[in-house]
Amino acid sequence: MKLSTSVLLSLLAVSPLAQAMLPIHIKSYRFIKPSSDENDPSENEVFYVKGLDYQPGGSSGFDADGDSDVLSDAQQCARDTYVFQQLGVNTVRIYSLNPDLNHDECMTILNDAGIYVILDVNSGNYGENLDRSDPWGTYNSQYIGRVFRFIDAFKNYPNVLGFFSGNEVINDEKNYASIDPPYVRAVQRDMKQYIAKHSNRTIPVGYSAANSVDLRLATYRYLQCNSMDGTHVNQAFEESRSDFFGLNTYEWCSGSSDWQSSGYDVLNSTFSDAVIPHLLRVRLQQEPPKNF
Ligand SMILES: *[C@@H]1O[C@H](CO)[C@@H](O)[C@H](O)[C@H]1NC(C)=O
Ligand SMILES: *[C@@H]1O[C@H](CO)[C@@H](O)[C@H](O)[C@H]1NC(C)=O
Repeated sequence: MKLSTSVLLSLLAVSPLAQAMLPIHIKSYRFIKPSSDENDPSENEVFYVKGLDYQPGGSSGFDADGDSDVLSDAQQCARDTYVFQQLGVNTVRIYSLNPDLNHDECMTILNDAGIYVILDVNSGNYGENLDRSDPWGTYNSQYIGRVFRFIDAFKNYPNVLGFFSGNEVINDEKNYASIDPPYVRAVQRDMKQYIAKHSNRTIPVGYSAANSVDLRLATYRYLQCNSMDGTHVNQAFEESRSDFFGLNTYEWCSGSSDWQSSGYDVLNSTFSDAVIPHLLRVRLQQEPPKNF
């Protein structure tokens, strides 16, 4: 195993065919992949994310003060990128990374394999995300400073498809769903202003919603809004809106669900008038075997 990993690593690392991937951009409700550097709209194609969550060890496997994260070990990245290729995925989403480490090798390995990444700028550690019960206390300069360091750490990799500004911050209908949303938009505004000022390309900023049927549509409507009257784009709103929306749904039970019984038909019609791209994150629920 060790041997094949290092062989693979050197193959990936020195591949003469490798070149920088072309960044994805957003047009209306779609992700667009340029066909060439010219970025000719008539030749570009719609990009459908076919992805995986990638967080070996889960959230508890991340140590904010440690000297490694999931994109710091080139051997591990080469091993897992090989599997991503076998599975046919074109994107991975990563929840927790340390902006102060070097990610050049892993990002190059992913780039050379044709794989984009969508990254959460936050981590689960205290001070590294908005606390939904205390958004005013945790939306502070130390937190935003880390978000900016994170953007700096990744903005130059062409295969960064986008950043998530928050993950399931809005998910407590009773107590906090009415206080958190403006803070999510404030973080998005800060991120988009920072990217506009410091990055040489636009990087989409989105939000990843909780698996809450009750809050789903309201969250989406609030975060995508860029107009007061529904016709004229308001520049300040445009700056704080989500560029894309991550949707969690755990409704499909493997082996037994279909389009109707899973509720996917409702989900599909709920978002039939989407104005920004959606990412669907599914978790298949295994039903217990039936007793005969
Ligand atoms: C943007 O920055 C990256 C990294 O420094 C560089 O490779 C790339 O050529 C730059 N692109 C443009 C359009 O200047
Ligand atoms: C999902 O919604 C879209 C837009 O309304 C519609 O065109 C499409 O046929 C729907 N898909 C299914 C499988 O019902």
